[in-house]
Amino acid sequence: MADLDALIDALPKAELHLHLEGSLEPEQLMEFAARNGVDIPFRTLDEVRAAYSFSNLQDFLDIYYQGMSVLQTEADFHDLTDAYLQRVAADNVRHVEVFFDPQGHTGRGLPFEVPINGILKALDAAEEKYGITYRLIMCFLRHLPEDEAFETWKQAEPWLDRIHGIGLDSSEMGHPPSKFARIYEAARERGLKLVAHAGEEGPPAYVWEAVDGLKVDRIDHGNRSLEDEALVARIRDAGLTLTVCPLSNLSLCVVDDLKDHPMKRMLELGLKATVNSDDPAYFGGYVNQNFRETARAVGLTREHVITLAKNSFTGSFLSPDQQREHLAEIDRIAASH
Ligand code: HPA
Ligand code: ZN
Repeated sequence: MADLDALIDALPKAELHLHLEGSLEPEQLMEFAARNGVDIPFRTLDEVRAAYSFSNLQDFLDIYYQGMSVLQTEADFHDLTDAYLQRVAADNVRHVEVFFDPQGHTGRGLPFEVPINGILKALDAAEEKYGITYRLIMCFLRHLPEDEAFETWKQAEPWLDRIHGIGLDSSEMGHPPSKFARIYEAARERGLKLVAHAGEEGPPAYVWEAVDGLKVDRIDHGNRSLEDEALVARIRDAGLTLTVCPLSNLSLCVVDDLKDHPMKRMLELGLKATVNSDDPAYFGGYVNQNFRETARAVGLTREHVITLAKNSFTGSFLSPDQQREHLAEIDRIAASH
């Protein structure tokens, strides 16, 4: 096990499913609240941590939206993003494709440019500072109506050459992907990459809609796809990557026990699964911890771990040449471990 942990630590990795607002650590939450004079219902770090116990996605989202209210200035978004990058550089993460939720900020009165300017400033510095490249994905909150997504799309127009893709997150049940078919079509026409959360709590029908209706390039979570054999075949044959988040799944009771996590089953079914942290400040671990705990709980082998690291690059939006360089480095590191 120590050998496998050492391999996990050493392998270059990409993280493909990470909400920047979900990387807000309790210490930072307190610091930003104090520096911006924002009232929060917590007085101590222990009180914040005690609130991070969830029984489903909505439980978490309520705390997540409350937490992001302390983010007020470009500097806050910069510092949040920089802290995440610094943290994952230590995990040997070499490329990130990160989400942000503009409507979580414009909905409480911040101009669109505040979050994106701060985030881009940190991301643009990351290659030189940490050796990390990036793609930025703008998510729409699916519990809000389609016209509000279009309003956000309009606000994003001046930045569309800096935004690589769109995503769909927030409360899944009752908000199927088809609700956003027209915005996905607009983004596809602009040449953006398309991803969507589907099958985290929602049924396989929602994953079908994401694949065939939205024509996504990648599926976020996708756990419940395994309930439908034809869907598994469709995802496998299309070579679609699943950005799976084991510790998130445990925290939000998508699985009752990490031992029941479908990661190994996904790999054995020939699905291109990857390991990601989702909202690491809330779910108790960054990417290497997700690898380590999942490997231990479901019995991943060295080959599984190497495949997962490779999938993180082949499932990314890096160019084939860039992907090849990372894969060659994985082979070199694996050979020496
Ligand atoms: N699911 C849906 N919405 C989210 C998540 C998630 O895991 N994290 C942040 N927003
Ligand atoms: Zn997510």
